[in-house]
Amino acid sequence: MGQSIGILTAGGDSPGLNAAIRGIGKAAIRSYDMNVVGFKDGFKGLMQQRFIRLDSESLSGILTKGGTILGTSREKPHKMDIGGKVMDMTDVMLENFASLGLDALICLGGGGTAKNALRLAAKGMPVLTLPKTIDNDVWGTDVTFGFDTALGIASEAIDRLHSTAHSHHRIIVVEVMGHNAGWLALGSGLAGGADVILIPEIPYSVEAISESILDRKAGGSTFSIVVVSEGAVALPEHERMTELAAASDDADAADELASLEAAQANGTDRLARDLEMQTGLEARVTILGHVQRGGTPSPSDRLLATRLGTRAAHLVADGVHGVMVALQGEEAVPVPLEEVAGRRKTVPSDHPWILSARSLGVGFGDEGHG
Ligand code: F6P
Repeated sequence: MGQSIGILTAGGDSPGLNAAIRGIGKAAIRSYDMNVVGFKDGFKGLMQQRFIRLDSESLSGILTKGGTILGTSREKPHKMDIGGKVMDMTDVMLENFASLGLDALICLGGGGTAKNALRLAAKGMPVLTLPKTIDNDVWGTDVTFGFDTALGIASEAIDRLHSTAHSHHRIIVVEVMGHNAGWLALGSGLAGGADVILIPEIPYSVEAISESILDRKAGGSTFSIVVVSEGAVALPEHERMTELAAASDDADAADELASLEAAQANGTDRLARDLEMQTGLEARVTILGHVQRGGTPSPSDRLLATRLGTRAAHLVADGVHGVMVALQGEEAVPVPLEEVAGRRKTVPSDHPWILSARSLGVGFGDEGHG
């Protein structure tokens, strides 16, 4: 028997996780006769020594499955909820890793998971990560797996909303996920032919959006599709939030920031009401929510997850760790975790998708651009 490796999936689930688990496991077993275990429910399973053996049989038939066969959680190694008390359990995880005789741990997750993996690596654990998230906001990789599937689901939803918006002469405001990055809203909005796209990277003004919608109306289009990323923020709130974030040592500022962030949860409904008032058109809201993360992964996500997973197995065999396996151009490459952790890939204002959308007359709600 070759080396022993552990796999875990952490953070929100994402289409392609099972394809990645299968890619790692099959390559590890076939090429190196490795012993492979999968920890249940993210870092929690590593702490509690809850795991299953991943052999050829358990890895078979999972390629097309959504979610993760291992289960996931958002628990962080250094902030585990232990009977209502928050405790640092990194040392327990290191002990469990050693007692199971593991040679490497592969963590499948987004930016938060890269940070957590780096914490374990800093204490000596040989860790690798793979970038998964529908948000596509992981630094160091061209794309994350899960994004393409979510993009397809959100784009199809926008397609379907067109006919009903058109029939009723309404504004339809459709909220898509993405956390604090606008990739999913921008990509699906562009692919779905949205009239306005609002993303966290470009603070919006309701007046500018209304102007875009009224311009369309004047041109004979009596409906509009507004795609809004869940993290998009109106200009006044954005300014205040930026000020408060800069004063992060001040407890009052932190409280005000938290309450402003919480108020954002109803931001899409408020936006729709404001647009109704300013345009005189009827508006409806559709929140796509977790449907974007569910179901079978797209072929492109399966392909990416499989490539990154198999590459991870080869890297472990070569003794490489402390890295995220990323897609850069045509290659699956190791990127040091130090470079990835704590950074987020957001949409640059001159990204080709933005420039292309602006050329089509899509509004971003920023004044001066319509
Ligand atoms: O990170 C993926 C994501 O789906 C984000 O787009 C979203 O903000 C968040 O997870 C939702 O998290 P949860 O499933 O824990 O509500």
